[in-house]
Amino acid sequence: MTGKPKRRGLFIDTLKGDVAPQPPMWLMRQAGRYLPEYKAIRATASSFIDFCYNPDLATEATLQPIRRFDFDAAILFSDILVVPDALGQTVRFAEGEGPRLSPLVSPEDCGFLNDEIDLERLAPVFETVRGVRAELSDDKTLIGFCGAPWTVATYMIAGRGTPDQRPARMFAYAHPEAFQRLIDRLVDASVRYLVAQFEAGVDCVQIFDSWAGVLPRAEFDSWCVAPAVEIVRRVRAIVPGAPIIGFPRGASTSLSEYATKTGVDGIGIDTAVDLGFAAKTVDRSVTIQGNLDPLVLINGGAALDAAVDRILEAADRRPHIFNLGHGILPETPIAHVEQLVRRVRGI
Ligand code: CP3
Repeated sequence: MTGKPKRRGLFIDTLKGDVAPQPPMWLMRQAGRYLPEYKAIRATASSFIDFCYNPDLATEATLQPIRRFDFDAAILFSDILVVPDALGQTVRFAEGEGPRLSPLVSPEDCGFLNDEIDLERLAPVFETVRGVRAELSDDKTLIGFCGAPWTVATYMIAGRGTPDQRPARMFAYAHPEAFQRLIDRLVDASVRYLVAQFEAGVDCVQIFDSWAGVLPRAEFDSWCVAPAVEIVRRVRAIVPGAPIIGFPRGASTSLSEYATKTGVDGIGIDTAVDLGFAAKTVDRSVTIQGNLDPLVLINGGAALDAAVDRILEAADRRPHIFNLGHGILPETPIAHVEQLVRRVRGI
């Protein structure tokens, strides 16, 4: 990719190391069920996966939170589980229950997956990226994403969300070689998928490792850090300087090492981490992102203001993108998001 003008604006400038008087902000899962306008268009699609593969609906869902709250970045509306779908696994979302995949019980089950990600199947996602980018102003950032190999593998193996990711952890201990092959395949798929998102027009990508926090140190290094190192290196070999944010949720005391080893531009800090600790320990060249508790946003009021102020103070004078420590919850009142935006922007 050459010759494309690089869009800047507050978000990318901050990701590349600038410190502004007020941090740029966006919220994980900012398009979703807390918005009545989201629920209205969601009701027009027969299933969640159809919704993700409908460029008109997905473009609209991506833009809704920007229109309402004027966030500095839009995140592509899709899901991390379109990757297993494009690898040939059956993926559906049971209404009110969450994702359901045909589980990978034994190493032989992995044999049914495609070797390579079918980017044709994901063509509607890239069309969504083009549609959103055409509507967004130049100073707004469009974030693309993928699930990290470990997190995606936990759903592929269990066939659903699990509280402790036990099926994937047991699979990795019992069949380390087959598990490594699955991770390698997901690294490959993620690289191709992220590069295609950049080619369609995203300005930055985030790698969601939502279940990084359950692994012991050695497994965290093998299944979270090493794959992220590879993804960042291989994406940047094709898209030089690609802005990348890593979100190893629950990485705790290993956060700074994840940041340094992977070479990400930004690192998502989850709710349980003291942002002041992250600000001191993560290398100054890496922008920190986070980390308001989604529950204090549901509460609102003085507790919300105090929590926001503590974060702004803890991140003072270092590159910081304001965000939640995990996704916004459906029961969040819109008035509290408005209060949050005013508080962060000092208006
Ligand atoms: O606004 C955005 O952040 C962009 C869209 C987005 C969705 N999912 C939409 C979605 C993104 C970035 C994701 C990431 C995702 N998906 C993750 C990683 C981040 C995290 O939250 O840990 C994971 C683990 C998934 C898998 C997934 N998708 C689950 C477990 C569920 C069911 C739980 C739930 O909240 O219902 C989904 C469904 C999903 N993905 C919804 C949305 C808006 C809700 C479904 C609906 O609207 O019908």
